[in-house]
Amino acid sequence: MNSSPCSSGEGWIEEPLDQRNVVALLKSVLEEEPLAGAWVVDATAGNGHDTEFLAQRVGPEGRVVAVDLQQPAVEATRARLAASPELAKRVEIVKGDHALLQDLVPGPWRGEVAVVLFNLGYLPAGGRSLTTTAATSVPAAEASLTLLRPGGLLALAVYTGHEAGAAEAAALREWASRQHGARATVRLLRDRGEGAVGRPEVLLIRRRPEQG
Ligand SMILES: C[S@@+](CC[C@H](N)C(=O)[O-])C[C@H]1O[C@@H](n2cnc3c(N)ncnc32)[C@H](O)[C@@H]1O
Repeated sequence: MNSSPCSSGEGWIEEPLDQRNVVALLKSVLEEEPLAGAWVVDATAGNGHDTEFLAQRVGPEGRVVAVDLQQPAVEATRARLAASPELAKRVEIVKGDHALLQDLVPGPWRGEVAVVLFNLGYLPAGGRSLTTTAATSVPAAEASLTLLRPGGLLALAVYTGHEAGAAEAAALREWASRQHGARATVRLLRDRGEGAVGRPEVLLIRRRPEQG
């Protein structure tokens, strides 16, 4: 990943996103996280690809809560994991709104979660009628930051190409810029300029290690 900062206007770090494949980029970021035995959250389970990846990364002692608003996504994630009973044991799939994330994870997880991952947008092959929106994504990001352990990572892939996506990305950027400082460090990866309209963005928000 190219990580040379190009701007830090608001004090946070903005970098060019030179890979179109944001999922691969997020995976490479998560590969670097110390996740063995950790508690992690997939806040947009969808078809279960990311949940499966996280279940592999946390290992036999770790646990994943995978959340999605749609029943077809819950079923798709369950079906994907059914092929790997070892991984399925590590995952709890929850049907719910990630805006209410604090109530969807076990109580002891609060302040102890290593990673919360959002792959925003719409369910692939599920139609575009239900997409994530700023109205729920921003409260969900706020809830996630509260759930994180010190040094934990909130990672969001934001798709600006669908109808609600540009507004969602702007709202998340605005929210993230306010977190940068005492509470967290923020990296925004995106392409700028005319040709970049509609391209995905990545936000990496790390809770400050010194926060108790
Ligand atoms: C791009 S897909 C996720 C892809 C998925 N991570 C995978 O590996 O296949 C986005 C998902 O967000 C879900 N979603 C939309 N709004 C939501 C909300 N408020 N709470 C939880 N999930 C939501 C959609 O149902 C959809 O399945």
